[in-house]
Amino acid sequence: MASYQTVLLDIRDSAAYVTFNRPEKRNCMSPTLHAEMCKVLDEIDQARCKVIVITGAGDAFCAGMDLEGCFLEPFDKPELMAEINTNAFGWFTRLKNHPAVTIGKVNGWCFGGGMALAGVLDIVLAAEESTWGLSEVNFGIFPGGGTTWAYANNMPSRKKALYYALTGETFTGKQAEEMGYATRALPLAQLDAETDRVVKMLSRLGRTVLAKTKEVYEKVRWMDFEPAIDYEMAKLWELSRETNDDWVRTALASFKRREFKPGTQSYTLTRDV
Ligand code: COA
Repeated sequence: MASYQTVLLDIRDSAAYVTFNRPEKRNCMSPTLHAEMCKVLDEIDQARCKVIVITGAGDAFCAGMDLEGCFLEPFDKPELMAEINTNAFGWFTRLKNHPAVTIGKVNGWCFGGGMALAGVLDIVLAAEESTWGLSEVNFGIFPGGGTTWAYANNMPSRKKALYYALTGETFTGKQAEEMGYATRALPLAQLDAETDRVVKMLSRLGRTVLAKTKEVYEKVRWMDFEPAIDYEMAKLWELSRETNDDWVRTALASFKRREFKPGTQSYTLTRDV
């Protein structure tokens, strides 16, 4: 595994653990971090990870874009700014479309671009004590670079979404859970154990079923019911083909022998499909 200046990467048991490692800067995302995240995702792809967990070192998850490194310093250098943006939005987009299940472990401060990141992840486990905010109005802009997309898609109530974007007022991880931005909020002391539990649950399952579950959800959200049925059935047969019909030949055959109860248990993968 390569080593990086701004990110720690650990890959084990088909899960990748990514830690933003600029605690002295509250893990804000510098140009180097953006460039390194592109390489981190290359490594994760090569390892064919099923799960990616992203968190921050110290008391911050991510204080958003590095306001000096990404905006102030390159402001009069358009080529440099374009390169930074290509890296930043490149890895954000790759992560959003990634076949692995992406989990954010929001351990502390989460602002601006940090909320964009939390917004594109599949699952977010947040410390109740964490502090979140759309702080852009406080320095004279609106949330950009995917952050408006992220808050608009993760805060179902228009009144709450606009309230936080317009005032810049902060809210807690507990409130993030109530609004649906976080899957679950729990005391910081329990965050590691809960993340491990969720990773373990996902790691038991097949790579293909996890990836297709995500893909079908994202596409079907924008479809009418009847085309959705057609699409879901077509994708089901695609999954069946790609996994050598494992769901019937292994899982349902095992159910027929009453070896597990699918309501509360998963079948045992015989190979990594
Ligand atoms: N960009 C650049 N530098 C940042 C930063 C950011 N987004 N967030 C924090 N830092 C830097 C601070 O400038 C400070 O640098 P210094 O030690 O050289 O003075 C260092 O990180 C520590 O930050 P500090 O403000 O002293 O920590 P804190 O714990 O008192 O406050 C925050 C934490 C997150 C509330 C505060 O740092 C902050 O408001 N950051 C900006 C958040 C933001 O608006 N992000 C949106 C960007 S899209």
